[in-house]
Amino acid sequence: MEASVATATRHLNKKGFLDLDVDPTLDLAAEITRLKREKNAIILAHYYQDADIQDIADYVGDSLGLSQEAARTDADIIVFAGVHFMAETAKILSPTKKVLLPDLKAGCSLADSCPAPLFRKFKEKYPDHVVVSYINGTAELKTLTDICCTSTNAVQIIESIPADKGIIFAPDINLGKYLVKTTGRDMVLWNGSCMVHEIFSHEKITKLMIRHPQAQFIAHPECEPHLLEKADYIGSTSGLLKYTQTHPATEFIVATEAGILHQMRKASPHKTFIPAPPNNTCACNDCPHMKLNTMEKLYLCMQYELPEITLPEWVIREGRASIDRMLEVSARAGL
Ligand code: 13P
Ligand code: SF4
Repeated sequence: MEASVATATRHLNKKGFLDLDVDPTLDLAAEITRLKREKNAIILAHYYQDADIQDIADYVGDSLGLSQEAARTDADIIVFAGVHFMAETAKILSPTKKVLLPDLKAGCSLADSCPAPLFRKFKEKYPDHVVVSYINGTAELKTLTDICCTSTNAVQIIESIPADKGIIFAPDINLGKYLVKTTGRDMVLWNGSCMVHEIFSHEKITKLMIRHPQAQFIAHPECEPHLLEKADYIGSTSGLLKYTQTHPATEFIVATEAGILHQMRKASPHKTFIPAPPNNTCACNDCPHMKLNTMEKLYLCMQYELPEITLPEWVIREGRASIDRMLEVSARAGL
C-alpha cells in the first residue's frame, strides 16, 4: 500500500531516505522511466553508481559533466544519483528546480574533511591568496571559494590564475600535490583526502603489475603520490574512461572507485579491466557513500519527490560565483 507524503516525510526524518516497502515484483526500471516522463525529471548519475542506476540515467558522467548538465537542463526535477555535494552543486546552479537525492546520508569523506568554519579561519592566514576548491566540498565551502575545480579541469583552473598570485587549494591534499607537480605552482594545501582513493595497496598493485606486464596502470589524481608515480596515466573518471577507449592496450589496472568499470567494459567489451586492490581483506573498492543509492531508493524518491535538497538563499547566492567561474574557464578550454 502506498504511504502518504506525510508518512513518507516522517520516515525520511529518521533515516535520511524513504524506508518504505517496495513491491518486489515491481519492474523498477520501467517505473522509474514512467516517473521521469510524467514528472519531467532527469536522472544525473556519477560513474561510481551501481550499473543498474547508470543504465537508467539520462546522463552518466564525472563531476564536471554532471555540473554542466545540471546547469543546462530544462527538466523540472533533477534527480541526483551521486552524493550530497553533487546535488548541492546542482541546486546552486539550478535554484528554481527541485533537486532530489535518494539518500541524504550519501556524503563524502573529502567534503567532511573540510568544515567551512575551520576553513574560514585557515583562509584568514592567507588574505592575499586565491582560494581554489575541489568541487568535492560542501556548499558552504563554496561560499569561501574564489573558483572551484574538478579533476577534469583542475590544471586549467590553476593555470587561469595569474602567476604572481598565491593559491590555497582545498580539500584534497593528493590532488593538490599532483597539481603542484604538474603546474609548478606553489600552493598552500588543506589536508583532506578521499577514503576510497587512499585505501589502495601499493604492494598488491605491484604484484598485479608483475603478473600482468602488458597492462596499463591508470589512476585517479585523488590517489596518494606513491601510487601516482607508478601510473602510466593519471586522470579524472572521464579521462580514465577515454584513455581505455583510445589506448591500444587490452588490459588495464584501474585505481579508482570500481563503478567506472561498468562504462569501461561497455565501451571496450574485448578489453580486460582489473580493479586495483585495496589495503584490506575486502576485494572491492566501492565508495560507501555513492553505494548508498539503490534502485528502490531512486524509485521512492521520484515517487514522493523526497528527500529534497534545500539550501539557504545566501549560500546559493555566495556559492554560485565559484562554480560559474569554473564553468567559464572549462568552456574556454573546450572541456
Ligand atoms: P571525478 O568525477 O571528477 O572524476 O571525481 C571523482 C570523485 O571522487 C567523485 O566523487
Ligand atoms: Fe567522496 Fe571519495 Fe566517495 Fe568520491 S569516492 S564521493 S571523493 S568519498
